[in-house]
Amino acid sequence: MFDTRPAYDFTDPENLTALYPLLARLQREVPVYWSEQLNAWVVTRYADVIAALRDPVLSNRRLELVVGYQLRDSDPAIAKDYERISADTMLFRDGAEHHRLRTLGNRGFTPSALERARPTVQRIVDQLLDKVQAAGRMDVVTDLAQPLPSLTIAELFGIPKTDRDLFQKWSHDAAKFLGGNLTDPPREAKAANDGMLGLEAYFLNLIKHRQGKPGDDLLSLLLAGQAEGRLSAEEVSAQCILILIAGHVTTIDLTGNAINALLDHPDQWRALVADPSQAPAAVEEALRYDPAVPFIYRIVRGDTQIGGQKMGPGQVVYIGLGAANRDPAVFANPDAFDIARPNRGDHVSFAAGPHVCLGAGLARRELEVALTGLARRMPNLRRGAEPPVRRCENIIFRGFHSLPVEF
Ligand code: HEM
Repeated sequence: MFDTRPAYDFTDPENLTALYPLLARLQREVPVYWSEQLNAWVVTRYADVIAALRDPVLSNRRLELVVGYQLRDSDPAIAKDYERISADTMLFRDGAEHHRLRTLGNRGFTPSALERARPTVQRIVDQLLDKVQAAGRMDVVTDLAQPLPSLTIAELFGIPKTDRDLFQKWSHDAAKFLGGNLTDPPREAKAANDGMLGLEAYFLNLIKHRQGKPGDDLLSLLLAGQAEGRLSAEEVSAQCILILIAGHVTTIDLTGNAINALLDHPDQWRALVADPSQAPAAVEEALRYDPAVPFIYRIVRGDTQIGGQKMGPGQVVYIGLGAANRDPAVFANPDAFDIARPNRGDHVSFAAGPHVCLGAGLARRELEVALTGLARRMPNLRRGAEPPVRRCENIIFRGFHSLPVEF
């Protein structure tokens, strides 16, 4: 019998669990690879990844791919509002249109806005750790990673406490469609569509109220950019929804991946406990070592070349952020997890170029406060009795379903 498996198999569960040996082999052997399995180019070298992220011919107008992938054979009408609202977000626009929407987003994530968010993040982390401290154990995913980003963003937007549960449900259902693995596509697509409609109505109402009475919350900051970009209320609402869902699954996954890397490397954990001011360094190395989004993709809208390889209109390109982070041409001994690595911050886990992650500063802050809290309050952190369960059904999103720990 011939072995018909592809040379680089991106769906094999073993390859998905231990992703980096596969990516290292690809980077060494065929750094720009045409995968029949993905029907796409796969780019893995650092220099090529940067070139791809900065190439204007590689387009972010790829919503139909996201929706098609998640719906599989279901009726596209189920996700029609999801598609309409997402199409209005900066994440799916190019060039001047992207810039206009991003102008609004930038207003909400200035260094001073981030500094003002710090006490909020601190209070949320303290409360989450208070809840589990006495038990001496927790599941990092359900007890810390999941509530942290959604509580933070709800506070930053100034969502009243009475609306939080509904708001959380909508954002969870909508975020899952962007960044999750669906087990029941028609049901989950309908939930995502309803979630988007709920969020849209909620934000449109909130915008109306805040316009008359601006405060120092995230929405008021964003509204300051509305006139500059000449955005409609619907466009402002779409960017708010994007901010909500783009930072949801990603931050959950980053938190799990970071704590898992520290548990796998007790010497690094001890270094952090000995000096919790190393938390920002640990965050950067965790981002480099095991990113929440190992790949993003683009559609070629003209003729271009990446790594000497010609690419043509309509082709899909998978850009290997995680692979670039382990390129030995840039990072010495790339498979080592070392929080003292001098160039740890050169990773591309938040992408680069015009679509570089808007919420990178907030995600960094959330993880930094969480790691500092753990190092100070739970210095004996170790794995729990139950094994962790990885969540890596595809090469785009990578995290944990559960990560039990004791302390
Ligand atoms: C660990 C956490 C996070 C990771 C790994 C991450 C990663 C990324 C990546 C790779 C992109 C580029 C996507 C592309 O161009 O295809 C991106 C874009 C974006 N992210 Fe994040 N992100 C994280 C957290 C957040 C947070 C907390 C927020 C908001 C509060 C956020 C908001 C955004 C937005 C709005 C964009 C679109 C930017 C644009 O299109 O110009 N992200 N993120």
